[in-house]
Amino acid sequence: MDVYGLIGNPVGHSLSPPMHEAGYEQLGIDARYVTFEPPEDGGAEAVRSAANLGVSGLNVTIPFKQDVLDAVEPDDLAARIGAVNTIDFSTDPPTGHNTDAVGLVRALEHHDVSISGRAVVVGAGGAGRAAAFGLADRSVTVDIANRTTEKATALAEEVTSADAVSGTATGHGLDAIEEILADADLLVNATSVGMEEDRSPVPAEALHGDLAVLDAVYSPLETRLLKDAQAAGATTVDGAWMLLYQGVEAFERWTGESAPVGAMNDALRGGLE
Ligand code: ATR
Repeated sequence: MDVYGLIGNPVGHSLSPPMHEAGYEQLGIDARYVTFEPPEDGGAEAVRSAANLGVSGLNVTIPFKQDVLDAVEPDDLAARIGAVNTIDFSTDPPTGHNTDAVGLVRALEHHDVSISGRAVVVGAGGAGRAAAFGLADRSVTVDIANRTTEKATALAEEVTSADAVSGTATGHGLDAIEEILADADLLVNATSVGMEEDRSPVPAEALHGDLAVLDAVYSPLETRLLKDAQAAGATTVDGAWMLLYQGVEAFERWTGESAPVGAMNDALRGGLE
């Protein structure tokens, strides 16, 4: 039996176990997915212990996504983002990947959203970095807007100067949102604004019908931003799709199988409702 898992602190609320186990069950894979909660300074050590115990794969969440870089060989994208959320123990040393970036792109593709043109990413933290690099890697022109303008500008410089990245990025403060959204094709909320609150990081008047809007927040599923976007005639993609596809991407990397996306989605949404 293969053992996969998640390290985070806290991890009690995680929906990854039912999501991944629904996938194993559907494909008849003999595996389990369990959660581990190492102490806050114990991320890298937990990864080394997991390798010794024969764990096949680990997902990594807050607060360990940066710390585990010390215990793995990160691939190019994870190194550029500066965060690892998926570890593959089939190599020595284990390899570190970031499936948040690809998960975002696959969530958009699932909704037939074209990954091209101009995108506005609101937020320049971990999720914002994954979104900016993931979209720029697909040749999208990215405008990053963040409450702390300097973080957006610094991230934009990193994205634009990265060798492997084909798109370009520009950083802004939140006050630029209306202007940069006017001719944008895509909007991603990568801030925590809207989580368990009826608040949007973007003024409703700035939204328009030519936009596709993805909110990385998934609690609630229908955020204020997505309600406003729907009212403006935009295509909307809720945060559970990104959560699903970062998991799908990890599942496929570990098992080498095409993930049963429908079964994993049902298990995830069953837990969210
Ligand atoms: P994550 O890993 O989920 O991205 P994070 O790294 O803590 O979490 O980043 C949180 C993001 O949400 C940041 O872009 C943050 O803006 P700052 O860089 O200025 O801190 C943004 N954010 C959090 N609370 C916010 C608020 N009330 N208004 C606007 N942006 C906010």
